Amino acid sequence: MTSDVRILDHRTPEERTRSFLPGMGKTWLLPFYDVFTRAAGIRVLHERAAELAGVAPGAVVVDVGCGTGNLSLTLLAAQPGAQVTGLDPDGDSLRRAARKARRRGVSLTLVQGYADRIPGADGSLDHVVSSLALHHIDDEGRAGFARDALRALRPGGKVTIADFGGPGDTHRHGRVAHRPVVARNHSGGILALLSEAGFADVHEAAHFDHRFGRVTFVQATRPQLVPR
Ligand SMILES: C[S@@+](CC[C@H](N)C(=O)[O-])C[C@H]1O[C@@H](n2cnc3c(N)ncnc32)[C@H](O)[C@@H]1O
Repeated sequence: MTSDVRILDHRTPEERTRSFLPGMGKTWLLPFYDVFTRAAGIRVLHERAAELAGVAPGAVVVDVGCGTGNLSLTLLAAQPGAQVTGLDPDGDSLRRAARKARRRGVSLTLVQGYADRIPGADGSLDHVVSSLALHHIDDEGRAGFARDALRALRPGGKVTIADFGGPGDTHRHGRVAHRPVVARNHSGGILALLSEAGFADVHEAAHFDHRFGRVTFVQATRPQLVPR
């Protein structure tokens, strides 16, 4: 199989000046992202998310907030027959993801853009996945993400999200989540986001106590009929 890796810029003129919170909080820290997350034992989260998503051969998948491509590449390792697209506003992260995909000889499409405009025609995707990205996105962007995931998924299509958060208000060591963006994920914030958008069967499929905090794995299904 030949590797086909491409980066497409889907940003509108307005989106070219839209701000976003990069992977390490600051753009100059990006070169350390993979070293840092590997040392922090984050890989196991990607493996768990890929296992829960259970992507079938030929499935069409978009990884929202893909960064340097860790979840996309884990999905492709588990299911080389999947058609995976990574979406992120950060061009430098996408170039890193592209280099990693070429080194591994896998095919991956990378789209520069935002979570509230998911690449894919209405009802065309089997899966939307996302890891550690929702806590980087403000309220409006999160609501837009949930709405657009529902639009782009086929009936019965699934969303799988892994991120810090969960049913309680606290981190693992009893401290209240201190960053407002992370706090949005707590008290079932991701479950509420997907339910309010109109997803069915919204549930926490698993959780993981990482030393940086509780990681929740939330899954939901696009129903046959969606609210307009
Ligand atoms: C902590 S990194 C996670 C990267 C990758 N998913 C992983 O698990 O390693 C968060 C990512 O969210 C991206 N991001 C921030 N705002 C975004 C938005 N509005 N839409 C899509 N991605 C966004 C950042 O550029 C960054 O790559």
